[in-house]
Amino acid sequence: MMKEVVFGERTFVPSISAEEIAKAVSRVAERINEDYAGRKPVFLIVLNGAFMFAADLLRQVTLDCTISCIKLSSYHGGLSSSGEVKELMGLDADLTGKDVIIVEDIVDTGLTMHGLIPQIKERGAASVEVCSFVHKPEMLRYEDARPKYIGLNIPNRFIIGYGLDVDEYARNLPEVYELKV
Ligand code: PRP
Repeated sequence: MMKEVVFGERTFVPSISAEEIAKAVSRVAERINEDYAGRKPVFLIVLNGAFMFAADLLRQVTLDCTISCIKLSSYHGGLSSSGEVKELMGLDADLTGKDVIIVEDIVDTGLTMHGLIPQIKERGAASVEVCSFVHKPEMLRYEDARPKYIGLNIPNRFIIGYGLDVDEYARNLPEVYELKV
């Protein structure tokens, strides 16, 4: 049973249950397994937020694949995007000729993916797609950032849990909660 959770002055109410998450993750994994059959994609996990989604998703990916983690950041402790993508850190994999699947926890305005996708292409990737646990379609400002693989489309609410943070807390919650209004 999910209950309200409190972080600092903010109260969050249940939004997406562990069961709903599991179903969404399975759906995405099945589609990727079908679409990439016979290929050997590279999963590029964008830290920190995507760690939990990636761990669940990749356990259901049956392809021969490799996994790399990168870190970049556009939010700075606030509730909305700062409009700035920080530097890419840690991309050491050779992406030449590779089919790259970027794994994100959330695509919101799309600014982060809009900044990252060209950098992946510049490194010679054969293809680049985005796989995001959640997406806020009404917030998208960059069409090139629209994820091909989406766990759940959600309205524009501030959510935490399952990798998503409030001031770096709450990432470990196994379900998703939204800010109580
Ligand atoms: C979050 C999220 C995406 C980005 C989405 O990252 O993980 O990378 O913001 O927003 P956008 O579509 O408006 O660019 P954040 O910078 O909060 O880092 P984190 O993953 O470490 O929490």
